[in-house]
Amino acid sequence: MENNRRPADLERITTPEQAEKFIDEQLSKLREQIGNQRVLLALSGGVDSSVVAALLIRAVGKQLVCVHVNHGLLRKGEPEQVIRVFRDKLGAELIYVDAADRFLDALAGVDDPEKKRKIIGGLFIDVFAEEAKKLEGISFLAQGTIYPDILESGPVKSHHNVGGLPEELNFTLVEPIKFLYKDEVRVVGKTLGLPDSMVYRQPFPGPGLGVRCVGAITRDRLEAVRESDAILREEFALAGLEGEVWQYFTVVPDFRSTGIRDGKRCYEWPAVIRAVNTVDAVTAEPAALDFQLVQRIVSRITTEVSGINRVLWDVSPKPSATIEWE
Ligand code: XMP
Repeated sequence: MENNRRPADLERITTPEQAEKFIDEQLSKLREQIGNQRVLLALSGGVDSSVVAALLIRAVGKQLVCVHVNHGLLRKGEPEQVIRVFRDKLGAELIYVDAADRFLDALAGVDDPEKKRKIIGGLFIDVFAEEAKKLEGISFLAQGTIYPDILESGPVKSHHNVGGLPEELNFTLVEPIKFLYKDEVRVVGKTLGLPDSMVYRQPFPGPGLGVRCVGAITRDRLEAVRESDAILREEFALAGLEGEVWQYFTVVPDFRSTGIRDGKRCYEWPAVIRAVNTVDAVTAEPAALDFQLVQRIVSRITTEVSGINRVLWDVSPKPSATIEWE
């Protein structure tokens, strides 16, 4: 437990200067720890793993191998962004694994939320381990563990981290940001030159859109979640709400209702708008959205997204509701 306590001499990082100091210290520590060995990282594109990747690219360059597993439940444009930023811009050694079909096949017909999470988590480890076994000379596994994960030994974060790898892959852990709070990670990420859309990204569950495609996931309803979410995010960005509203997304539940399309009766799903403000996600308030913005989103989703004839706006606080619909 001793080395899991934040060092007393680590000052709070709020300015770029403090971040530079932290980065310099970490770079020498990482170089010393890793030497000329290779290090592996599961890069989800979330803030934490992205900051760890950016640090390691600076510290050991091509000795870092990033693996980005696309489980088919990522938001629109996410895998492309990871490839653009890390492979094209930062020159990282990046293995991209499109495992969408494997995940969606394994999830077919499974409607229990816990079972869905287990399948996604288990298969993620399998896919990652398969890639790791193909690589030679890897000694270290880097992880984007942050201080709240240690403090809460978090059930929430367990979906992101690659614990539970098979025994033959017994790497030494490298956790350069494990004593940082989220706001500090963001300052470090910004100072490392990561794009704002990555650094100030809203929270996103490890099982991804899988928790927002309520019930058994089907490819067509998952596409409806992904497309409606992309429209919502685009409209929020245009309205200047990015970084203003804490979390916003759409949910597509597994039921249909009657509507009218092209003068004919149709039987389609609703999309649910969820937008909340919170400090710590323990309690949350619905964001008071401008009604014209809501109407614009409704109009775009019902015309642009296949299979959606109705949009609902969830204004429930947490409690009694949770933020997600899982
Ligand atoms: P609920 O729905 O319980 O969610 O009110 C609280 C916050 O946690 C996020 N969440 C997750 N975050 N991995 C994560 O990193 C997960 O598996 C996960 N599940 C829920 C949720 O989006 C909300 O911000």
